[in-house]
Amino acid sequence: MNDSYNRQIQYLRVSVTDRCNFRCVYCMPTQGVKHLSHNEILSYEEFLRIIKILSKHGVNKIRLTGGEPLVRKGIVQFIRDITALQSITDLSMTTNGSLLAAMAEQLKAAGLTRVNISLDTINPKRFRQITRRGELAQTLQGIEAALAVGLTPVKLNIVLTNMITEQDIAYFVDFVHHKPVSIRFIEYMPIGESQTTPGPSIEEIKTMINGFGRGILTPTLDIFGNGPAKYYDLPQAKGTFGFITPISDHFCGVCNRIRLTADGKFKPCLLSNQEIDVKTALRNGASDDEITKLFYHTIAKKPQSHTLTNTDEPTEFFRRMSQIGG
Ligand code: 5AD
Ligand code: SF4
Repeated sequence: MNDSYNRQIQYLRVSVTDRCNFRCVYCMPTQGVKHLSHNEILSYEEFLRIIKILSKHGVNKIRLTGGEPLVRKGIVQFIRDITALQSITDLSMTTNGSLLAAMAEQLKAAGLTRVNISLDTINPKRFRQITRRGELAQTLQGIEAALAVGLTPVKLNIVLTNMITEQDIAYFVDFVHHKPVSIRFIEYMPIGESQTTPGPSIEEIKTMINGFGRGILTPTLDIFGNGPAKYYDLPQAKGTFGFITPISDHFCGVCNRIRLTADGKFKPCLLSNQEIDVKTALRNGASDDEITKLFYHTIAKKPQSHTLTNTDEPTEFFRRMSQIGG
């Protein structure tokens, strides 16, 4: 199904919960966000029904996000149920990695293809400052577990805040040298009242990486997953670096995704407040055709690009990142 700007929409990101065991500074306010009640959030059966319908209309790629998807009970069975739908060929997850060491094996067995894990710094103290609750060691164990069971390619997400230091970059260069991971630096997006100061620019990061004596970054072909990141190789490295620039060089022209929130709203764009309520329809007994119409309506509403950078007026977002799923 193509949208008004001829983008083929085949990717659905499903936020299975708004809850998280971390409170990352770029994602949530200190006190957290008021959680949805049990009745407000979609059941797995409801998610599955929507996914089934959309899979008949061109969606073949699903990413589970949160909050933190691994804190919702029953996630492994949900993954099994999605895997059983033959038309879904890529089922991935974005996670903070804290519960991954214990769950990686079951997740892989259930059919999860791969994971993206947040790792904003490798300094335990700063990790705690950024995540407010997290233990670096657990996330590092989660990364190792994902590699060990083959939830690959493993991608690591680093949001560029002012907490990142040369020490982190040196570690990441070393990590990419030895491990088949993709380390992706993401420009901070000002959504909700997060308490973050943007960090170094992508260009500054590239200069730092090039300065470590492990060779110079060279552009490479996109790795599996075909997202908005631009990938670079370092000589003899097992992994790659990626750069994601929603602000300095947006990739809206190739955006192939829509989102479904835990409280049952379709979102045509991460960076817009538009939402299409699918939960009410579901709970009022809507037919598959009616749900399909809401999906088409969402696609029709997909804006050509976000407006974060071309207005003087800052956009006021109704949702925090943890309520959308990044
Ligand atoms: N800006 C950029 N990326 C963000 N993420 C969360 N909040 C932001 C933000 N404000 C990303 C993190 C995490 C994923 C869920 O979303 O990298 O891995
Ligand atoms: Fe949780 Fe992810 Fe938000 Fe951090 S970025 S608070 S890990 S949802």
